[in-house]
Amino acid sequence: MTDCVFYTAATLNGFLASDDDSLDWLLRVPQDDVQGDMDAFFASVGALVMGSATYEWMLRQEDLLAHPAKWAEIYGERPAFVFTTRSLPAIPGSGIRFVSGDVAEWFDLIARSAGDKDVWVMGGGALAGQFAAAGLLNRIIVAFAPATLTSGKPLFPHDLSWEDLELTGVRQIGRFAELSYRVG
Ligand SMILES: NC(=O)c1ccc[n+]([C@@H]2O[C@H](COP(=O)([O-])OP(=O)(O)OC[C@H]3O[C@@H](n4cnc5c(N)ncnc54)[C@H](OP(=O)(O)O)[C@@H]3O)[C@@H](O)[C@H]2O)c1
Repeated sequence: MTDCVFYTAATLNGFLASDDDSLDWLLRVPQDDVQGDMDAFFASVGALVMGSATYEWMLRQEDLLAHPAKWAEIYGERPAFVFTTRSLPAIPGSGIRFVSGDVAEWFDLIARSAGDKDVWVMGGGALAGQFAAAGLLNRIIVAFAPATLTSGKPLFPHDLSWEDLELTGVRQIGRFAELSYRVG
């Protein structure tokens, strides 16, 4: 069965990125010993979902419009969906779909495109919250980095109580502390 999973890194005090969408705080943490876990998670992913800020960060970080082949090198042939109300530049050959509106209306298509694998909600937190509000989010996995920020983009700006969150895993992965929850 396909799970919808919000899998992300965050600062210790609950931010996904700085106010200006920088991930320097994360990229500065030595990550040699996390690659195996990321690869294992990635092998379980059949489709990608993200908001426009996350997509635009990827465009900048990998210079994907100038080097579109990098998309497939990183993400393979996985279907990808970007939620946006704007007209964003597409990465040639990526097949990325730009969608808008109620996440529940897109979910059947997204889940079917994942085949027998999972849907990875890459971020941001408010988009993951939209899936949770629609009762569509099955798991949250957060790798907390040894870093804090005074302000930034919130990890998960949506209300869930303890009855909604079953703790299913606590692991140390290199310098990160990973918490896994089943939702609902
Ligand atoms: N720490 C990590 O591992 C990690 C993981 C993922 C992302 N990030 C970073 O965290 C930051 C997240 O930024 P963010 O919180 O602003 O989130 P985001 O979800 O990436 O982007 C939010 C934007 O997506 C669009 N959007 C969201 N829901 C929509 C809907 N239902 N329909 C249409 N459009 C919708 C809206 O913009 P428009 O309509 O104006 O396009 C909204 O402002 C980014 O800098 C990203 O790179 C970090």
